[in-house]
Amino acid sequence: MPNVVVVGTQWGDEGKGKVVDVLSRKADAVVRFQGGNNAGHTLVVNGETVILHLLPSGVLREECKCVVGNGVVVDPKVLIEEMEELEARGKALRDGQLVLSRLADVIMPYHRELDILRERRLGSQKIGTTGRGIGPTYEDKVARRGIRLGDLVEPEVLRAKLEAALPDKNRMIVEWHGGEALDLEAILAEYLAYGERLGPYLADAAGLLHRIQREGGSILFEGAQGTFLDVDHGTYPYVTSSNTVAGAACAGSGVGPTDIHEVVGIVKAYTTRVGSGPFPSEADGEMDEHLRKVGHEFGATTGRPRRCGWFDAPLLRQAARVNGLTRLALTKLDVLSGLDRIPVCVAYEGYDDEFPHDLTTAVPVYEELPGWTEDITQATALEQLPEACLAYVARLQELVGVPIDVVSVGPGRDQTLVRGDLFT
Ligand code: IMP
Repeated sequence: MPNVVVVGTQWGDEGKGKVVDVLSRKADAVVRFQGGNNAGHTLVVNGETVILHLLPSGVLREECKCVVGNGVVVDPKVLIEEMEELEARGKALRDGQLVLSRLADVIMPYHRELDILRERRLGSQKIGTTGRGIGPTYEDKVARRGIRLGDLVEPEVLRAKLEAALPDKNRMIVEWHGGEALDLEAILAEYLAYGERLGPYLADAAGLLHRIQREGGSILFEGAQGTFLDVDHGTYPYVTSSNTVAGAACAGSGVGPTDIHEVVGIVKAYTTRVGSGPFPSEADGEMDEHLRKVGHEFGATTGRPRRCGWFDAPLLRQAARVNGLTRLALTKLDVLSGLDRIPVCVAYEGYDDEFPHDLTTAVPVYEELPGWTEDITQATALEQLPEACLAYVARLQELVGVPIDVVSVGPGRDQTLVRGDLFT
């Protein structure tokens, strides 16, 4: 298989975990390259649901290396809990299967605290973050005062970095937000213990990926969140704090751009968004409720109800450009079964092919496509889908201009219909 980047093309929750899990069968390594445990990737294997927040979705394939790249922000407590949960389910990591970049930044207790306190202060202006400390951790990384995973196994370095950082953080927590000061010795003891537990997994992750490439292996890059949550290309300021687009796979892992061969965009057959921010094709009360109920649209990380709406083609055309998409995988098509007619946003009023930099003023132009009544969850090949369903997929492909080579009709691994022989 070539080296493939998988990214979300909307506002996250497109079903990337499932597609990565299916593709990981042909990969030697699966790499997370940005974001942290704000992500929630749901996999259903043999009827059992597994939700991963930090571990790459290849973790259920024993022969596959799972790499947490330098671009990820890691909450060590969450990572350890996730490893232990897998162990308890009899799916423990094989020796050498997990590799953590020494260079990845660590989410500290003050990052989580500040994330929550700031959102509280913003009130109705809040971003609607996951409260996991993602933004404050990336801020410290860019300000060059972050704590990296490698520091957790160096007691003196960790102490010095904490002594430098904590007074300022406590001042912000106590004086600006009226919170409670955090204790340096307690944090130090807690994080050194994490270092001891995670130490055996720390490595030169980029070096490992280079070696896999030299030996002719293939790498799958697993994006988190979605294109319109990207800190540059998304609906700023209602975005996450990392670059979520395909280009970030290189910076966040240490693999060069000429070594990326395919970029697969994951797209839901409709659109959802969690948190605040513009959403041009958001559905009205009744249909929003219907999609949420049938599609089980509640956040895998926070349990928050997702806002639901219709497929937005201009959004996807922009996603195709900024990610350089070579293929699309369409997910949750089964959720649309039973609708009489399905609206699709084909353009924004007054915009031709350029993309408005501010989506709050975008007015969608809709086309209505005929629905289908059949249950499609048992289909095992694309040809078995009802005619109206195939016409819906064909129209989306035509509107976006990128081939839809994968169609998912349910949460299970086997409910994935593939056109041709994807990446043999
Ligand atoms: P943060 O990443 O926690 O800072 O949250 C910033 C914005 O990104 C909020 O609107 C979140 O709801 C959204 N967000 C972050 N991670 C995800 C995800 O994995 N899926 C969907 N939305 C996300």
